[in-house]
Amino acid sequence: MIKFNFSTYVNKFVDNNEYNKLLTKKDEVLKKFNSYDMIGWTDRISDDLINDIKEEANFIKNNFECLVMIGIGGSFLGSYAFSKMFTNYFNDNNYEIIYAGTTLSSKYTKELLNYLENKNYCLCVISKSGTTMETTITYKLLKDLLIKKYSNDFKNHIITITDKEKGSLREETNKEGYKSYIIPDNIGGRYSFITPAHLLPLAINYDLDSIIKGYYEGSSLIDDAYNYAVTRKLLFNKGKYVENYCIYEENMNFFMEWLKQLFGESEGKNGVGILPMSNIHTRDLHSLGQFIQEGNKILFETFIKVENSSYVSYDNKNLHEINNIVLDSVVNAHFSGNVPCNIITIDEINYENISKLIYFFQLSAAFSSILFNVNPFNQPGVEVYKKEVRERLENN
Ligand code: PA5
Repeated sequence: MIKFNFSTYVNKFVDNNEYNKLLTKKDEVLKKFNSYDMIGWTDRISDDLINDIKEEANFIKNNFECLVMIGIGGSFLGSYAFSKMFTNYFNDNNYEIIYAGTTLSSKYTKELLNYLENKNYCLCVISKSGTTMETTITYKLLKDLLIKKYSNDFKNHIITITDKEKGSLREETNKEGYKSYIIPDNIGGRYSFITPAHLLPLAINYDLDSIIKGYYEGSSLIDDAYNYAVTRKLLFNKGKYVENYCIYEENMNFFMEWLKQLFGESEGKNGVGILPMSNIHTRDLHSLGQFIQEGNKILFETFIKVENSSYVSYDNKNLHEINNIVLDSVVNAHFSGNVPCNIITIDEINYENISKLIYFFQLSAAFSSILFNVNPFNQPGVEVYKKEVRERLENN
């Protein structure tokens, strides 16, 4: 179950005429959305591919001690964020999956190489372009270790997930004959949850059928996704340039990182867009809470409320109820401090709800970008730092 409240703690901040005007633009926005050739993530994934992913996941579990996933941005955040929500805080007994390739820290890389030295690991590298620097460097180092350990048999330890024909990773895959999956042309990184890039690692520890079922159920939330996009745009028009996502479950931390990437890269172009940030409560009530309550009124908030969780009795109360009482109180307090608050409620953190939310947010990010008049599916700004790095490395 998912419920949306984009009105109670928001309406007084938005202009009613503007709201009605944007509501009537819905067909136009949908038409624009459907005109993009990057909405392959709304198409159904084939049963053959699902079965292949499940078989490969079993093969990995039965033949390797752990799986190392290498990728960055949209090529890693979806499955990482999802899996974090279903990993026990202590004594987790899921099959070990290590996510690497998001840092050039030599301390981290050295420790990773040391850790893998005596492990029989499988390496899965994801890069749609096949040229991303962080991914390439980590992949090369971990592949070299495989070659050192297994000589020519290293090829049986590698899986690639990349474009069907472009890029050096595809070239290498074809030459070496690695097991490989395709990221379709019509799906970009941050919208790639429903591709092998994320479904393969998820199939190892979780029920893929529930994840996929929940994901496509998200398509029924198209009206809510549009309303959310409209609400955000109206708040932006009133000078609310920052959206603070608030969660009360620590294990949703990386879901917030996924959200920030989704909205940040989709919308932040041509000098517009809402800056996404996140707070984990109640921890951050004791840091940024002060600013939000009484500081510069540039932000609005979106709370994700979870109705049910583990039962812990405290003082004749359920600890989770106390957590949610805090949430309700914070919404009231911030609202009274002129901070608009959206609330998205789920009955519990389960596979269906989370993948449904993923579809919902993807739709919303796309609608919202269209309302801002920018292309939701590119990220030209990211190239600027890459070019600078390339030039400096060449002159070094
Ligand atoms: O959402 C996106 O498109 C980006 O975040 C990419 O996923 C990220 O830059 C990694 O790109 P690639 O998969 O080409 O290595």
